Parts: sequence; structure tokens; C-alpha cells
Amino acid sequence: MKLLGLCGSLRQGSYNRRLLDAASAELPPEVRLEIFDGLADLPLYNEDGPASPAVRSLRAALGGADGVLIATPEYNASIPGHLKNALDWASRPFPDNCLRAKPVAVVGASTGLFGAVWAQAELRKVLRTIGARVVDEELPVGQAHDAFTDDGRLVDPEVGSALGSIVGRLVDECRPLVELSA
Ligand code: FNR
Repeated sequence: MKLLGLCGSLRQGSYNRRLLDAASAELPPEVRLEIFDGLADLPLYNEDGPASPAVRSLRAALGGADGVLIATPEYNASIPGHLKNALDWASRPFPDNCLRAKPVAVVGASTGLFGAVWAQAELRKVLRTIGARVVDEELPVGQAHDAFTDDGRLVDPEVGSALGSIVGRLVDECRPLVELSA
């Protein structure tokens, strides 16, 4: 089983990128998480334009994955612009887009107290609108600057087990679809 990871932060040293790495460590051996690193190459969405190679590559990566895990920070109480832009590209053509009926889970980290809960809630709303099968659970990692050990694990074991649980739900959602297509 192949999961695609999208990180809502472009910066080096992103806590959300670390969260994806921590999620990877929670996966059963037959599941691998591949991080899509082309989000910064996407043009701004324009309904007039033809899809660029970067857009085609995003759509192919999403379409080829059995499920998607998104880790997002919160920018001004909402979804970072480049991540929303990527989802707008992924949403078209509608309704037969590359995320339709695709299992997706959302987690998030922020340096604030609330762990990007608003961004996660908005992201789930956007994903449902696009037609994805969204895991109805959140993982807020607050005060992210103190949340990870030097070797990338989550300091708080309860947060670590909550991450394991949401990733487990995502894998459970994917399993019957993978079996159907086998
Ligand atoms: C932030 N940050 C932030 N944090 C938060 O909890 N709520 C918010 O609304 C915002 N708003 C916000 C806007 C902008 C433009 C920036 C750059 C930052 C802080 C944010 O949580 C922090 O920078 C995280 O470290 C970003 O995640 P990565 O890059 O570490 O993954």
C-alpha cells in the first residue's frame, strides 16, 4: 500500500515535515509513505491555463496513491495558501478528480497552543468538498518547537499514540479499496 504525504509548509526544518516522518514510523511494514515535494513548483491556479508539468505530476502522484496524509501548519487561522492552491489544482476536473473517493487524513503542528486545529478543520472541509473520503479525526500538535525529540519522535507518548491511531484509521480506510483493485 502506498500513501502520499503532503506537507503544508515549504520551509527547511518544518515541524509538519517532522510530523510526516513520525507518522511514517507508525505505519505497518507493508505500507510506505512517500512525500510529494513538488508543491512549491505549482503555478497559481488559473482556470484559463493548461495544466503545467508540475500540476500533472501532482495529479499523477495523488491518483497513484492508495491514500493521502496531509500535515499542515496554520497561517493566520487558516490553510497555508500554497496548500490550498495545490488542492484547487487537484480538484479539477470536477467531479472526476484525482482525490475523488480517496481516503485522506489530516494532522497538523503549530508553534501556538492549539496545534493548527482551525487549519485542519478547514482542510477537512475543503477535502470533503473535493470529494475525498476524509478521516473525521484531527491531530493537533501544539508548541511544536518543544514537541519533537532530536531523533524526530514525539515527546508526549499520548500524542504519539494519537498519531498512530489516525494513521491506523487511514490505513483501514485504504485496505478494502486496495483489495478491490488487486
Ligand atoms: C504562523 N503561525 C501560526 N500559528 C498558529 O498556531 N496559528 C496561526 O494562525 C499562525 N499564523 C501564522 C501565519 C504565518 C504567515 C506564519 C509564517 C506562521 C506560526 C506557525 O505555527 C509556525 O511558524 C510553525 O512552525 C509553522 O509550521 P512549520 O513550518 O514548522 O511546519
